[in-house]
Amino acid sequence: LRIFVPIDSSALSVGAESVAQAILAEAERLGVAIELVRNGSRGLFWLEPLVEVETPAGRISYGPVKPSDVPDLFASGFLNGRPHRLGHGLTEHIPYFAGQERLTFSRVGIGDPLCLEAYRANGGFGGLERALALSPAELVQEVTDSGLRGRGGAAFPTGVKWRTVLEAEAPHKYVVCNADEGDSGTFSDRMLMEGDPFCLIEGMTIAALAVGATQGYIYSRSEYPHAFRTLQCAIAKARDAGLLGPDVLGSGHAFELEVRMGAGAYICGEETSMLESLEGKRGLVRFKPPLPAISGLFGMPTVINNVMSLASVPIILSKGASFYRDYGVGRSHGTLPFQLAGNIRHGGLVEKAFGLTLGELLYDYGGGSASGRPIRAVQVGGPLGAYVPESRFDVPLDYEAFSQMGAMIGHGGIVAFDDRVDMARMARYAMEFCVIESCGKCTPCRIGSQRGVEVIDRIIANQERAKNLALLDSLCDTMIKGSLCAMGGMAPYPVLSAVKHFPEDFGIGQSARA
Ligand code: NAI
Ligand code: SF4
Repeated sequence: LRIFVPIDSSALSVGAESVAQAILAEAERLGVAIELVRNGSRGLFWLEPLVEVETPAGRISYGPVKPSDVPDLFASGFLNGRPHRLGHGLTEHIPYFAGQERLTFSRVGIGDPLCLEAYRANGGFGGLERALALSPAELVQEVTDSGLRGRGGAAFPTGVKWRTVLEAEAPHKYVVCNADEGDSGTFSDRMLMEGDPFCLIEGMTIAALAVGATQGYIYSRSEYPHAFRTLQCAIAKARDAGLLGPDVLGSGHAFELEVRMGAGAYICGEETSMLESLEGKRGLVRFKPPLPAISGLFGMPTVINNVMSLASVPIILSKGASFYRDYGVGRSHGTLPFQLAGNIRHGGLVEKAFGLTLGELLYDYGGGSASGRPIRAVQVGGPLGAYVPESRFDVPLDYEAFSQMGAMIGHGGIVAFDDRVDMARMARYAMEFCVIESCGKCTPCRIGSQRGVEVIDRIIANQERAKNLALLDSLCDTMIKGSLCAMGGMAPYPVLSAVKHFPEDFGIGQSARA
């Protein structure tokens, strides 16, 4: 009799540990033999802690469960999947879950994240086994053909990046996984690392085989202690099973993997400052070129990919490039795990093929705002992403369509705000974020963001508003054109989008800005 209680930090943060203990205690008191499995989260965060019971019909879910609900759940026969006021029926029939296309997240929430046998039984290592039979050039071609683009935010074709590293000649090459998930409202990297760590290890090993790297690093953040522990444990198990080490699965290829933790600077998610940090230095952005693919970690060719990009690789290899490529729309192939956060009724993770609209995500999955008020604005793609007004909620989630309207999909984080939001304050917040997180290397970002906050303050205080709005425009233009990296180069986008779409919050009429 198996009962599942997630051990993912989203569930732990709302009391999953005490629920698990209460279930064990109640089962012991009643003399019922149960097997308690600590799984990853299913991504239905508003139902966490979500307890599932395995029945002949499938897994029945109950949530959100408090420790005080446990005796009543046992008394009402939840071990047989009987209905209860907290019950939701078969987990896979819950509309939020049933409507998804889970490729990268196909195993997350199914079983114990650290059980190698469960990983294998659910399709794990199929990609690596196929990869071992292909040449590096064939591997790179397969990833190129899949249409996979960088899921960290920049959407650069992964196959092109790999090819650059493959063709670079050097004594050592590295694979670095960017797991410094710093965007507001994002958690897909963390969920995968905690819920299916072997998938990331498999993806990184395939990347290493493709480009000829022998050492890999996962660069994560101090705010992710559970992910860190899960990865450490998974790497040790993979090494014991011969999946990592001097001779990966008897193939003659060596690949070692380590996890490194950043100290909490947003800019260390920028690839070159991440390399500085990995080398033990302060996280300052490097000039490009040279690209990290040519001269990266310790001056060697380095593949740097986000967790989601690398975790998409095993299924691309096991099911084939065209299987993956057939999902999506236009040049946005495959699926993206969207993350619904902010003022939203059903926050959580929704993996879908590109092409659905923001409106579908916000209302069909998210259930509208948590406050019950109209959703007025949505920030897509983290703190450097534009604010999208309701009039654009019908634009398909596709890299090119978003870029055409001056927005970006980024890492898939979606933060909703209801009609009480003050967009002038949000614009100020975006600039202030840049002041706090700027690495300080270049003037437009270091000084420009500080001046930006002051100008917005004057606009809010109605001091020479027209003059200061023109100054803000010009300052944003300087930051976009003159900043060394995306931090200063993109911080103006939320500001400009707020002024453009919500002029009334800046004390100006629509016609004055048009
Ligand atoms: P970028 O467009 O400069 O580069 C994209 C990637 O392609 C880089 O890895 C670059 O080295 C590589 N590349 C470019 N040309 C290449 C070539 N010819 N051969 C091989 N590799 C090549 O973008 P950048 O500055 O790396 O990333 C900016 C993005 O990061 C933003 O769009 C933003 O969405 C995202 N971001 C994500 C965060 C997160 O938490 N996931 C946080 C902050 C920003
Ligand atoms: Fe550093 Fe900002 Fe310049 Fe980027 S734009 S290099 S974060 S000062």
